[in-house]
Amino acid sequence: MNCSLNITAIVVAAGSGSRFGSDVPKQFCDLDGVPVVVRAIDALRSSVDGLKVIVVVSAAEMERWRGIAEACGLGGITVAVGGTNRWESVRNGLSLVGDDADIVLIHDGARPLVDAATVRRVVDAAIAGDGAIPAVAVTDSLRLMLADGTSEPVDRMAYRAVQTPQGFPAGKLRRAYSLPYSQSFTDDASVMAAAGFTDLRVVDGSVYNIKITHPLDLDVAGLYLRHPS
Ligand code: C5P
Repeated sequence: MNCSLNITAIVVAAGSGSRFGSDVPKQFCDLDGVPVVVRAIDALRSSVDGLKVIVVVSAAEMERWRGIAEACGLGGITVAVGGTNRWESVRNGLSLVGDDADIVLIHDGARPLVDAATVRRVVDAAIAGDGAIPAVAVTDSLRLMLADGTSEPVDRMAYRAVQTPQGFPAGKLRRAYSLPYSQSFTDDASVMAAAGFTDLRVVDGSVYNIKITHPLDLDVAGLYLRHPS
């Protein structure tokens, strides 16, 4: 994508990945010869000309990151230190975003297969409103769990599964992240909404843009890489 906007991507890669069950956090695992987070960065960079990238890495994994960056020949990337939760990691990354940024994309370092068309939809919608969220239809049936231990079916057509990158005008995102943390923040869009930025536009994501969560996801992502859509 070639546009006149200044776009910065914050790639959050400071999670410990407890659900993944490995000593190596999932974002640093090998996916067909390239670490997951490097694939995520490369995919974003090849989607937006002149993209600035800030990667957020935990202090404990900084040495591993430096080794990966050197081995993969990654240059021109700013590094921020991660926080104890995703919100704090984003906030730390955001503190390094330049004043000239128009749009900030926030992307999970564990989503290596993001595509240029999704990024374009996010950027176009983000500049027109308070932000943009890529999302896909839910294919499983859904049930709402009630406080008394029972459950009831809900209409899955009314729901979307949210992905990243989410994109926001830089100034609005800074204002939202200047407010205190709340446990209700599940993603960046929820932080924006809590700050009163409610024109958040849902755009089509991609079923291939999976988040590596369990070890099997690496095999699935490898299949997607070898058989692109
Ligand atoms: O745990 P989960 O997969 O939902 O995390 C989403 C993304 O947020 C991952 O890329 C993870 O590395 C990142 N994260 C972070 N700092 C934390 C927790 C999660 O950067 N403290």
